[in-house]
Amino acid sequence: MIVVDAQADPEGAVRAACQVLRSGEPVAIPTETVYGLAGDIHNERSIQRIFGIKARPNDNPLICHVASIEMAQNYVIFDDMALTLARSFWPGPLTLVLKRKLAGRAIEMAAASLPTLAVRVPQGFSRDLIESFGSGLAAPSANLSGRLSPTSANHVTTNLGNRMAMVLDGGPCTIGLESTVVEVSDGKCRLLRPGGLDVTAIQSVIGTSLVNVAAGQGFKSPGMMASHYAPSAKVRLDARQVFPGEALILFGPHSVAGAANAVAAFNLSEKGNLKEAASRLFDTMVQADASGAGTIAVTTVPCVGLGLAINDRLRRSAAPRPL
Ligand code: TXA
Ligand code: MG
Repeated sequence: MIVVDAQADPEGAVRAACQVLRSGEPVAIPTETVYGLAGDIHNERSIQRIFGIKARPNDNPLICHVASIEMAQNYVIFDDMALTLARSFWPGPLTLVLKRKLAGRAIEMAAASLPTLAVRVPQGFSRDLIESFGSGLAAPSANLSGRLSPTSANHVTTNLGNRMAMVLDGGPCTIGLESTVVEVSDGKCRLLRPGGLDVTAIQSVIGTSLVNVAAGQGFKSPGMMASHYAPSAKVRLDARQVFPGEALILFGPHSVAGAANAVAAFNLSEKGNLKEAASRLFDTMVQADASGAGTIAVTTVPCVGLGLAINDRLRRSAAPRPL
């Protein structure tokens, strides 16, 4: 596996990545949210490799990353509300699930045969890469299915390094949480996954509130399974004290009883800033897990703004795990 420095030589990195992508092999790429495992969405082998490398169930659909609204229109149909959202928030941490246009076998596999396809225009380097590549890249987060999402090239190489050909190192992800996923149809906007774009920003643009499917029951999408983002250690939420043998993750200026005896202690944001906490969340979980503690105790993070997505990830990482 080769690690290419995409900060030192972005154009060279784009060239090298395009060559690997054309051969039908996925490449791990930095985006503003998390690192993605990107493959040519028109190539069946690429899509098979993505599912294989991640050990991802074939019925969990992938997001098609594009460079523009125009490129997205090759794959999906936009209604007025979807266009408004795309114009307001792309490039950025918003994924739109829209009616899929008829296309080949590879896209069918990426979409898990659903009548919809998720599309997103990412910011910065990854968008430049897609523009050079010239068509859509399917990219789930570059982690083993069900585990923590990677926010640095190092996370990717540690977990998937022996399974893939190339990782582009673009430094730490600025947002640090996956995109907010909404489905737009019949003039309604449904929240499928809270994420890096605050839902209140979406509501202010569409002028109505979102239907919160993410909080409901019965929607079959593995990204919304109760257990996800799982470190090896157990996770205990809303901790007010630390027990012997536990690692501690704080939020804000106040500590808790027993903190001095924690195996390792971290703070998502001493100032209590949710944006900072979001950007540090996964890396802090990785470090807390590496401490070897059997349990990671996490203090309360307020459930407002980006706190919604942070709490969603924390709850899933603490959920009972399948055997
Ligand atoms: O920020 C992100 O979204 C990152 C970066 C790499 O762009 N990608 C990412 O992909 O988080 P992934 O595959 O880890 O999560 C995508 C989520 C999953 O929960 C998947 O089930 C859902 O989006 N999804 C994808 N296509 C869908 C569709 N057609 N209908 C409903 N849900 C869909
Ligand atoms: Mg994921």
